[in-house]
Amino acid sequence: MTTRVTDLFNIQVPIIQAGMVWVSGWKLASAVSNAGGLGIVGAGSMKSELLLEHLQKTSSATSHPFGVNIPLLRGDIGDLINVIISQNVKIVFTSAGHPGRHIEKFKNAGCVVVHVVANVKQALKAQEVGCDAVAAEGFEAGGHNGLEEITTLSLIPQIVDAVKIPVIAAGGIADGRTMLAAFALGAEAVQVGTRFAATIESSAHEIYKQKIVDAKDGDTILTYRNILPVRALKNPFMEQVQKEETQKGMTRERMMELHAKGRERKGIFEGNWEEGEMEMGQSSGLVHDIISAADVVNRMMNEFESARKKLSTM
Ligand SMILES: Cc1cc2nc3c(=O)[nH]c(=O)nc-3n(C[C@H](O)[C@H](O)[C@H](O)COP(=O)(O)O)c2cc1C
Repeated sequence: MTTRVTDLFNIQVPIIQAGMVWVSGWKLASAVSNAGGLGIVGAGSMKSELLLEHLQKTSSATSHPFGVNIPLLRGDIGDLINVIISQNVKIVFTSAGHPGRHIEKFKNAGCVVVHVVANVKQALKAQEVGCDAVAAEGFEAGGHNGLEEITTLSLIPQIVDAVKIPVIAAGGIADGRTMLAAFALGAEAVQVGTRFAATIESSAHEIYKQKIVDAKDGDTILTYRNILPVRALKNPFMEQVQKEETQKGMTRERMMELHAKGRERKGIFEGNWEEGEMEMGQSSGLVHDIISAADVVNRMMNEFESARKKLSTM
């Protein structure tokens, strides 16, 4: 299947595995790329030495294209960028910050740059500074989320109408039906997080993976809503945050105090249900098994084709 996004990355199927802290290391990224999608190493939870190791291992494990995701707010962003360029990684997804500040460096190194956006204004800005595509992420998504709480269904067509560069849809996409819906809205690929977090190759803890499988439609909550929204599984820690937020409000300082204590690591990587932050999206209700990354890609494509056929008979 060919779209502007498959051409841009030189991949066979328009499925991109999201860069995710504590989840997407070299094993997951290389497995997705080997299956014909785009695997992405998530640099968000890595220092530059660890990122170097993961990029080298991904290169050894696949001969197919792969990318890296970097949150631009990182204090050591310069070191991470140097590692990415030194390893000749040619696909970069940037998030959480302004892509304009770093794009020249990436472009000079011959990289394709995609910025993650959550509204039309950010998408237009990404296009203006020279990004090659945007990944538009809706309210359903796991992890950090846009302040305006725009759902994927409303966000994608508005961004598709506003920009000329290709749009990759993210948030709530976990099977072939949701993928087809994103294509109907004008997306040319999908970025999938939660579904890939519950795979054999995901580096997350088994308890966290099983929590995704067990989660039902209403089991995630959004906290720090007015500052830096995060969607995660409703657990004792997140319920405590939500209660405090509702009763007293939330300041940036208090959020840092609560969020910064290695909560993501505790929840996702260490499987600590009581005290950790187990980031996952509303699509966790669509995930019923822990399977290989290649099975996710193949299953999604089969479901996509049968949903497409079914629709065409209506
Ligand atoms: C555990 C987890 C960690 C994430 N970490 C990052 C990250 O480091 N950088 C980023 O841009 N997005 C991150 N995200 C968001 C994903 O990249 C992706 O856009 C999102 O998961 C898509 O929605 P879905 O979970 O419904 O598939 C994370 C999501 C999850 C579930």
